[in-house]
Amino acid sequence: MTVRAVIKGCGHYLPKRIVENSEFEQTLDTSDEWISSRSGIRRRHFASQDETTSNMATFAAKKALEDAKLLADDIDAIILATSTSDLTFPSAATMVQAKLGMTKGFAYDVQAVCAGFVFALANANALIISGQAERVLVIGSETFSKLMDWQDRSTCVLFGDGAGAVILSAESGNGDKSDRGILASDLNSDGRLKDILYVDGGVSTQSTGYLRMHGKEVYRHAIEKLAMTAENSMKAAGVTIDEIDWIVPHQANIRIIHGTAKKMGIPKERILTTVQDHGNTSAASIPLALSVSKTDGFLKKNDLIVTEAIGGGLAWGSLIIRW
Ligand code: ACO
Repeated sequence: MTVRAVIKGCGHYLPKRIVENSEFEQTLDTSDEWISSRSGIRRRHFASQDETTSNMATFAAKKALEDAKLLADDIDAIILATSTSDLTFPSAATMVQAKLGMTKGFAYDVQAVCAGFVFALANANALIISGQAERVLVIGSETFSKLMDWQDRSTCVLFGDGAGAVILSAESGNGDKSDRGILASDLNSDGRLKDILYVDGGVSTQSTGYLRMHGKEVYRHAIEKLAMTAENSMKAAGVTIDEIDWIVPHQANIRIIHGTAKKMGIPKERILTTVQDHGNTSAASIPLALSVSKTDGFLKKNDLIVTEAIGGGLAWGSLIIRW
């Protein structure tokens, strides 16, 4: 018997405030046309001043618990992927644990920027298959609007806020590709590429800082590395491109999403995209896309999914999941 980590439920939360591209035309030398043609983004949600990463994560987690028909105390562990935690410590995950009223288990944050949710899912899978946890709540939640330099038109138009959550549960499988759950993962990072995407502040430099990005360089690395990691995961799971029902990519930029799918040989009809409505929500983008797509009726039981992401570090990775 093989233990598999199967997705039993998902949920999401988006702040009320929707900012259309045209709103930036009032304060910046930019246009709806430039933003949508370069990135595919049309609008994004921004958190209010008192809306935090842990608040949004808690809303998404509650929806995921409802969807899975589970209670908070049924969960053994919470892993929260974020680069925009409420406080330097404790982790946002432990704040969610308290807000959900959980009285047992353990919780921690994972920080791999836009690749955070992929790293967190792989981590949760490892907890489950090693027997350290049976049910793990995995969340991606971000308030990137609070990291923006509003004078920098090349970055501030690209990001948004939100949260998504999934619940993974241990189930027995046959040990082959027909099993439901996480079938394979592939994780990578290369710290030499720090300077193309980073925040120029932090606790030990005594500032919060702003997001800084060399967009063209990130673009150049993204397509090649995303296609490569997806190929590695598919190989590890023993599946071919023709068997994949959906690619659920990190929602950063439609040109990266289409370029990666083309390199992998997946037609556009098999890509789930939410970047047009959410912008880049970093670690929240994949669970948001999964939850919105499930609500919209796209994801069906036993569908085979490849999910991939890249972000600051650079850090990148992918997973093969049977829904
Ligand atoms: N409005 C109007 N003009 C702008 C804007 C804006 N918001 N931002 C930049 N420009 C200008 C630049 O100043 C430049 O002007 P110049 O030629 O006079 O110097 C011109 O537009 C072209 O700028 P480029 O940077 O060459 O534009 P490019 O076509 O490369 O598109 C973009 C920029 C969208 C950032 C692109 O490089 C990209 O998609 N990069 C990937 C980065 C990404 O998606 N990052 C997300 C975070 S990382 C991740 O999640 C994977």
